[in-house]
Amino acid sequence: MDKPVIVALDFADDFECIQFLSQFPKDTDLFLKIGLEMFCQFGYPFVRSLRNRGYKIFLDLKLHDIPNTVKRTCEMIDKWDVQMLTVHASGGSEMIAAAKKGLADSNTKLLAVTQLTSLGQTELEDELQIPLKSQDYVTHLAKLAYDNGADGVISSALEVPMIKDVTGPEFLCITPGIRPKSSQVGDQKRVATPSQARELGSDGIVVGRPITQANDGFFAYKDIYQEWK
Ligand code: C5P
Repeated sequence: MDKPVIVALDFADDFECIQFLSQFPKDTDLFLKIGLEMFCQFGYPFVRSLRNRGYKIFLDLKLHDIPNTVKRTCEMIDKWDVQMLTVHASGGSEMIAAAKKGLADSNTKLLAVTQLTSLGQTELEDELQIPLKSQDYVTHLAKLAYDNGADGVISSALEVPMIKDVTGPEFLCITPGIRPKSSQVGDQKRVATPSQARELGSDGIVVGRPITQANDGFFAYKDIYQEWK
């Protein structure tokens, strides 16, 4: 897989989203992330219409349920011809393996979310009662995902070297929390620039607001793409 810049489409309405996409020349090889917010509003027809326009899709649904339910859901998504799908690694070994089985007939890559970036050390210990250092928990979940057939994980760029150490070089690390030097950090905490992410071994970056909120989205995308490449 060519290392993509994935644009996170976090729009409140589909018209705004289509207007945003119209800034890009037709031959731009765009990879788009559809998260829960847009998927809950517009569902599969929205995914299908973007696939029909030739865009690659990262469906970020972060599935987390009993293995049988996740497998059956993945069997459905398997027919949608999307490039990536997420599940929570904390759903356990059986659930991850079941998700992979559900995706057996397509090339959809299964990515596992390790620890949400919104959960810090305090929440890990006090709320989830997990007595591990955050980075040990992340590498533990990444290894669990690797051992049970996932193709990769979503992680901070800063975590990529330690994840590759416990998995393998081919195990994908797709990294959000990307901010070019000139842009606002906003609510992201552990950020990296596109070139830092590349140096740390990231296999693809997810970028939202620095592109979607820019005055010229195509220009911002090209700038980030150049730095990443
Ligand atoms: O606008 P921004 O570049 O911060 O968007 C990043 C995207 O990646 C958002 O869609 C966010 O939900 C997602 N994401 C993240 N951190 C994770 C997992 C997903 O920022 N750990």
